[in-house]
Amino acid sequence: MADMETTPAGEETLEAKLEAMLEIEKFEPPEEFREDALLSDASVYEEAEGDWKGWWTAQAKELHWFKEPTEILDDSNPPFYRWFTDGKINASYNCLDRHVQAGNGDRVAFHWRGEEGEERDLTYADLHRDVQRFANALKDLGIGKGDIVGIYLPMIPEVVVAMLACARIGAPHNVVFGGFAADSVRERMEFSEAKALVTVDGARRKGKTAPIKQQVDDVMGDLETLEHIVVVQHTGADCEMHDGRDVWFHEVMDKADAECPAEELDAEHPLYVLYTSGSTAKPKGVVHTTGGYMTGVTSTHRYVFDLKPDRDVWWCSADVGWVTGHSYIVYGPMGNGATSVMYEGAPDYPHKGIWWELCERYGVTLFYTAPTAIRACMKWGVGHVNKHDLSKLRLLGTVGEPINPKAWLWYHMVVGGERCPIVDTWWQTETGAIMITPLPGIVATKPGSATRPFPGVAADVVDEREGKPVADGQGLLVLKRPWPAMLRTLYKEDERFVETYFSRFGKETYLVGDAARKDKDGYVWIIGRIDDVVNVSGHRLSTAEVESAIVSHQLVAEAAVIGQSDEDSGQAICAFVTLQGEAVEGSDELVEDIRAHVGVRIGKFARPKRIIWSDDLPKTRSGKIMRRLLRDIADGRALGDVTTLRDPDVMSQLEDKIKEEQAEG
Ligand code: WTA
Repeated sequence: MADMETTPAGEETLEAKLEAMLEIEKFEPPEEFREDALLSDASVYEEAEGDWKGWWTAQAKELHWFKEPTEILDDSNPPFYRWFTDGKINASYNCLDRHVQAGNGDRVAFHWRGEEGEERDLTYADLHRDVQRFANALKDLGIGKGDIVGIYLPMIPEVVVAMLACARIGAPHNVVFGGFAADSVRERMEFSEAKALVTVDGARRKGKTAPIKQQVDDVMGDLETLEHIVVVQHTGADCEMHDGRDVWFHEVMDKADAECPAEELDAEHPLYVLYTSGSTAKPKGVVHTTGGYMTGVTSTHRYVFDLKPDRDVWWCSADVGWVTGHSYIVYGPMGNGATSVMYEGAPDYPHKGIWWELCERYGVTLFYTAPTAIRACMKWGVGHVNKHDLSKLRLLGTVGEPINPKAWLWYHMVVGGERCPIVDTWWQTETGAIMITPLPGIVATKPGSATRPFPGVAADVVDEREGKPVADGQGLLVLKRPWPAMLRTLYKEDERFVETYFSRFGKETYLVGDAARKDKDGYVWIIGRIDDVVNVSGHRLSTAEVESAIVSHQLVAEAAVIGQSDEDSGQAICAFVTLQGEAVEGSDELVEDIRAHVGVRIGKFARPKRIIWSDDLPKTRSGKIMRRLLRDIADGRALGDVTTLRDPDVMSQLEDKIKEEQAEG
């Protein structure tokens, strides 16, 4: 379909209106919204603050427990906190059986839409049936409680079936985002010693098919811990099935028994491991457990988005392979019995208005996406949005990176028709659930600020040195009290867990890794990461991971990677590369070759946007690369102190180079 033209005059008026609105400091909750909101009385904050354990216990009680917990928090060995320790629970039971038993089996859990327009409505009863069968199929393969199961699937209903089947039998899943390359999948399977992997024959992306199973075979062959590969037939792509190791999803489903009661698990039984990027090249396996995590995701999903499960249609546009998908496509919404939209394709395929077309078609009322996506939509023009009836929308959310006020206002005006509150939600893979966010019926919003901590959460901005609260200014974001959905450790790396998050200010203060600012009203403004983590379009990447991929290219001697500010993606990967041998400059082909190499090693989304050839890199006398200087230079800022460099000339050479590049355009 051809892109729809937007009238230039219309865009101009909008632009003027947006500029004018930048002057508005605060947006009060719309009266109509407030009247009907689940929470509209600010006293909830004081009450939760006065008895935060009681507040979380009340949230936990909304779940189904085989045995209700009497012990709330075990804080005897910080930072290894444990919640609801004597309770027995199952996440899959909470996401399925409970709703079926309450008579809501016929409710649609997912309106699934395939890339080529296929549609499937899956009810809670459908998923209850499929999940039980797949849970039995996993058992038939010898997978049991405590075994790790890898999942590498596109956005198809089977991904939900696989996750909940694992949860049902107490086998923690390890989902890898479909955008990661097979090499990254292998690494994550190896680190977690996964016993099985659920994947797909092929995946579709913008009209093309990628041979996923073949790619997996290329790297997984010698991984002894991986005993089984279950393959979902999705595109019909050619794939070889290895005897004794590979089985088809539909075949094992056919053979499996229909009934599989959910295991009664300890509240602290691990629900999943999810690898995320940290300061070093080795990804961190964030471990979440069952009772606390389910408490966090269901309560935040309910109150932050004001969810009325019998009336609302929810759409979180993230991929299930990131934490946002785990918490707000699967466990939060399904725990609450919500009806959701799940879309397989990209936001601009088959056309740039597809999201809004789907919002109209399924009557979406609550929509949650990333600032990057909003900026892309702004670029594509209002015509794609205005063509569709979005009058059912009543709340909008964002997550993943700071949102610039202009994108916020555009979202508010163009998508939200000026009537929907916007919740800017700050959280992380590690926090499991939303931590800083407005409650839409209570808190006035300011474009660009995630506002204040969710009830029961103790977040603060402190100074770098002593960790003292900063009243009105910039500092480090910390969380000063345990919360139920917090990570419990890093998989098989307890020491790294303590070192990464609890060494700076002691074992009771969680170091977030973000810088933030608090304003005179106590509102929190997230600035960005303080470590070597880059946020590209809301995708979290470690500079060290990208460096190690670049250096593994045979012509590269050394590389330093930084995140550079980028209008579209928030940050973009910029790599300074030193070649082997005499040559300083590489050809355009080599640029493409290095980018492709990173694509194969990590995933396409990690490819550097810019490569700067450099004879040498700025290093301290002890040989450490000074990325701070590279960041300054790439963003065109004045250089800070260079006296600690081994060879200060390196910087002036690089500066000349960048100027040259800019002159060439
Ligand atoms: C950033 C994604 C500003 C932040 C859920 C955090 C945000 C990292 C916001 C976690 C927000 C997330 N405003 N920054 N609303 N939400 N971030 O683990 O730097 O993929 O530390 O979790 O994203 O990324 P992760």
